[in-house]
Amino acid sequence: MSNPFSKFIRQFNRTEMNLKFICLTGGLTILLITAVKCWYSYKCKELKFCDKLRNRAPSNYTLKVSSKLNCSLIGKLVNRDTDKHFDFFLTALAGGKFSIYINDPINLRYQVNDSLPEMPLETDMTVNVNMLDVGELVIIEFEDIKIYLSTDPFNLTVYREGQEIVKINPRQLLTFEEDPEAPVALDFNFPQALRAYGLPEHAERLALRTTTNGSEPYRLYNIDRYGYEVNSTQALYGSVPVLFGLGVNMTAGVFWLNSAQTFVDITHKKTGIDSYFISETGALEAFILTGPSLRDCVKQYINLTGVAPLPQMFALGHHQSRYSYMSQKEVLEVCNKFDENKFPLDVIWMDIDYTDKNKYFTWDPKTFPNPSSMLNALNKQGRKAVVIIDPHIKREKGYSVFDECESKEYFVKNPSGTSFKASCWPGLSSWIDFFNPEALNYYSALIADFAKSNNLHIWNDMNEPSVFEVQEQAMDGNCIHYEGWKHRDVHNQYGFYQTVGTYQGLIDRSNDEIRPFILTRSFFAGSQRYAAHWTGDNVASWEHLKYSIPMMLTEALCGLSFVGADVGGFSCNPTEELLQRWYQAGAWYPFFRAHSAVSTKRREPYLFNDKIQQRIRKSLQQRYKHLTYWYTMFWEHYLIGEPVIRPLSYEYSDDINTYDIDNEFLVGSDILVHPVTEKMAKNVTVYLPGGENELWYEIDNFNETYTGLGIKNLPVTLDTVPVFYRGGSIIPVKQTVRNTSVYMKDDPITLLVFLDKYNYAKGTVYDDDQVSFDYLSNKYTYVRFTFYNNSLRNEIIDDEASYDQATILNSVIFYGLKTTVSQVSVATKKSVPEEDLVKNMYTRNVTVNKNRATIDNLNLDIRHQFVIRFDENITFLE
Ligand SMILES: *[C@@H]1O[C@H](CO)[C@@H](O)[C@H](O)[C@H]1NC(C)=O
Ligand SMILES: *[C@@H]1O[C@H](CO)[C@@H](O)[C@H](O)[C@H]1NC(C)=O
Ligand SMILES: *[C@@H]1O[C@H](CO)[C@@H](O)[C@H](O)[C@H]1NC(C)=O
Ligand SMILES: *[C@@H]1O[C@H](CO)[C@@H](O)[C@H](O)[C@H]1NC(C)=O
Ligand SMILES: *[C@@H]1O[C@H](CO)[C@@H](O)[C@H](O)[C@H]1NC(C)=O
Ligand SMILES: *[C@@H]1O[C@H](CO)[C@@H](O)[C@H](O)[C@H]1NC(C)=O
Ligand SMILES: *[C@@H]1O[C@H](CO)[C@@H](O)[C@H](O)[C@H]1NC(C)=O
Ligand SMILES: *[C@@H]1O[C@H](CO)[C@@H](O)[C@H](O)[C@H]1NC(C)=O
Ligand SMILES: *[C@@H]1O[C@H](CO)[C@@H](O)[C@H](O)[C@H]1NC(C)=O
Ligand SMILES: *[C@@H]1O[C@H](CO)[C@@H](O)[C@H](O)[C@H]1NC(C)=O
Repeated sequence: MSNPFSKFIRQFNRTEMNLKFICLTGGLTILLITAVKCWYSYKCKELKFCDKLRNRAPSNYTLKVSSKLNCSLIGKLVNRDTDKHFDFFLTALAGGKFSIYINDPINLRYQVNDSLPEMPLETDMTVNVNMLDVGELVIIEFEDIKIYLSTDPFNLTVYREGQEIVKINPRQLLTFEEDPEAPVALDFNFPQALRAYGLPEHAERLALRTTTNGSEPYRLYNIDRYGYEVNSTQALYGSVPVLFGLGVNMTAGVFWLNSAQTFVDITHKKTGIDSYFISETGALEAFILTGPSLRDCVKQYINLTGVAPLPQMFALGHHQSRYSYMSQKEVLEVCNKFDENKFPLDVIWMDIDYTDKNKYFTWDPKTFPNPSSMLNALNKQGRKAVVIIDPHIKREKGYSVFDECESKEYFVKNPSGTSFKASCWPGLSSWIDFFNPEALNYYSALIADFAKSNNLHIWNDMNEPSVFEVQEQAMDGNCIHYEGWKHRDVHNQYGFYQTVGTYQGLIDRSNDEIRPFILTRSFFAGSQRYAAHWTGDNVASWEHLKYSIPMMLTEALCGLSFVGADVGGFSCNPTEELLQRWYQAGAWYPFFRAHSAVSTKRREPYLFNDKIQQRIRKSLQQRYKHLTYWYTMFWEHYLIGEPVIRPLSYEYSDDINTYDIDNEFLVGSDILVHPVTEKMAKNVTVYLPGGENELWYEIDNFNETYTGLGIKNLPVTLDTVPVFYRGGSIIPVKQTVRNTSVYMKDDPITLLVFLDKYNYAKGTVYDDDQVSFDYLSNKYTYVRFTFYNNSLRNEIIDDEASYDQATILNSVIFYGLKTTVSQVSVATKKSVPEEDLVKNMYTRNVTVNKNRATIDNLNLDIRHQFVIRFDENITFLE
């Protein structure tokens, strides 16, 4: 490499020096940016394509409609300035969506594959053509949607239920040229939107900013940004080019399916929001999501790109990682310490040092001499291991992975046809071309072979891909992939395809039996079908703790519900206070992993004083108590596409005050979490939504209820975090927390019933074997519980479901119920329909304490219908 900085830069990568810089500057990389070119982030004006298109004059395209199929309008889009013709398709899709696709039939541009798991379901539309003075007005109708397409100049206005919701090409910024290397662009306006959400990944607030008043556009370009800056539109590790325009009455979205580097400008106007998408190359493919609510838009997007499969239960437990645990002995010692000190832990992680000189698919023979004995020992503890597998392969003759990939030409190539070579963790490396189906198969076979032990799972890191010693640590756009596509065409989807291969490998290793767990740093639209994601190499700072919440919320809205941020912060040393606050927040992240960088101080929870240990233990216990609830939320994500965590505005979109709230969030719809992210906080300003008829029950003090009347200032100590259950909900918990989730599997559940103002509550519980794919053949239990008319009942949601193991309900605790009865009647129906509900009647005592009424010793199998009925003298909290 001719880069004069190369040696210097190399040393900077995750070294102590680098850490000191970042830690001293409080997470700002300014010093580094000036010192080290490879960490520089390009601005739009420094990239020719972006600079040119961002400042372009209006274009002039016209559409010549050629034919209409049932679901598609087909035509030729003509660039008036060059008289070039391109193929144009508009296709109506079921469920309030349609797509626009433009390509050049002669110089075919890259169209993203596999981001959508299947061809979206099309739907019939009607088309009427009206002649105008200039061109035509084509009116397309389907479902509640009406599209007015002006052919000259080309533009579209989309109406839903009679209201204008999206304008396409209103500013005539459409760009599509015959040069296949040229950029593509299009502008969209959301006339009813008040806020813009989406476009992960950025260390940014939930509500996106205006970028056209001097700020940089949002950049989508998967890139390794160690110790990244927060409050920024700069690119990070992953990209999902979907944008939602949130309005009170109408929310709409656009999914820009392009895997090249992309910039997006946002402008908030008096009426509505303008957006402008610019991609470096590729075809133009966009999906319009017509809402009408944010929830509908999110589901429409998820219907295109798919849901996350149900994770194994262990994956929702607590994960402990460090860069790195250096030997198998240390791995087991750490786990034992967690057990000895009663910190529940499901998974222990191994960063690159487990390998033999950073050669993936090997173990260091000195420090990990017998990995299978380690994995067996972990298995005996009910634990799983996760090891890192990166996409770069050490160039070393005799290393079979290298030899094979080199001889079979599985590596990404230079334009000259030789393997692309550059530096990464192992030194000189080459990168597997996961776009090549043969290379992908080879890679998944490596995974299947390496991860023979069912309790070994995989972490795909550095897969943006990160390349050392070069500008932005990014692979050269001229590199060549399968079928000759340039790296710049496919860049943002590289990491996606690695997870596709990893997933296949983990499926194959167990003959389809065990659900894989994969964590990926890089992602693209659709990655949720393969892997969980975390927010990469964050910093132990209050700012990073704060920004972890909007980052996760944005990702969850964009399909990636299984997200987390490194608890404690990856680089730098957190203060004890910050660490405790981070565990308290992390206990409510969908993916809950503590991780720390090389040369940070050790910070396993058992290393701290008793007081701190108690607080961390309490957070972990809170996580484990709620595992059934989490599992049910992931099931419902899988089943109906609901995000597992949600901004308040998702559930309370009528309330405009929720639109900017991103320091608290909902888990499902029923648990509201406001992590403490301020140093030395004595009180926290919480927003409780829902109006005067909504009740919120404080988690540590159930007797304290609040109404959803908005801002509430609440005192906090280091022991407390504002978390609330929604009145009207029924939450399953487990009372006993054990070392791992595996040992809690057969423990009975307790239902917490939080009554609303109308003395009503409902909730669901999902259960299965927590490990296998048997749920695909209906081997599960999915039950709804409802409390009304003084009775708690269950209802089997899915009649097809038949899991042969009981889920036992042993206790129910009612909150908000004032009762003087000392006994309830319990009636059960053992099997349907032979036995009558009342045949198995018995009574149970009620223990009343303040507004809490507890019923124990129920021993009910929730697969069979039951009723728990309060007899007379029942009164409810007003
Ligand atoms: C677009 O091109 C047509 C044909 O050259 C011309 O009549 C029209 O004025 C142009 N419109 C704009 C906005 O430049
Ligand atoms: C197209 O629509 C016509 C009339 O509604 C119908 O008969 C035909 O089956 C449709 N074709 C397809 C491919 O859906
Ligand atoms: C995408 O899929 C098409 C076939 O549908 C295939 O020809 C093309 O090579 C694929 N592109 C890549 C980069 O895999
Ligand atoms: C589309 O073009 C027509 C014809 O020039 C114009 O009347 C209309 O205002 C344009 N619509 C949008 C949304 O820009
Ligand atoms: C975030 O950045 C914007 C734009 O640079 C600035 O106006 C704002 O004050 C920053 N916010 C915080 C919390 O630093
Ligand atoms: C929403 O719709 C209602 C009823 O149609 C209307 O009164 C209100 O002004 C609309 N709000 C906004 C922000 O457009
Ligand atoms: C999208 O919805 C349609 C119809 O509701 C369904 O058939 C299809 O499987 C869904 N696709 C995905 C990826 O969820
Ligand atoms: C909240 O705490 C701050 C100090 O952290 C204090 O200045 C303020 O008065 C407190 N507010 C309330 C309402 O207690
Ligand atoms: C709730 O319980 C706490 C402690 O048990 C007590 O201090 C507080 O006054 C109670 N509040 C209500 C509304 O009963
Ligand atoms: C239920 O309450 C009755 C009357 O107070 C008492 O005799 C009985 O022992 C209680 N049963 C249980 C299981 O606690």
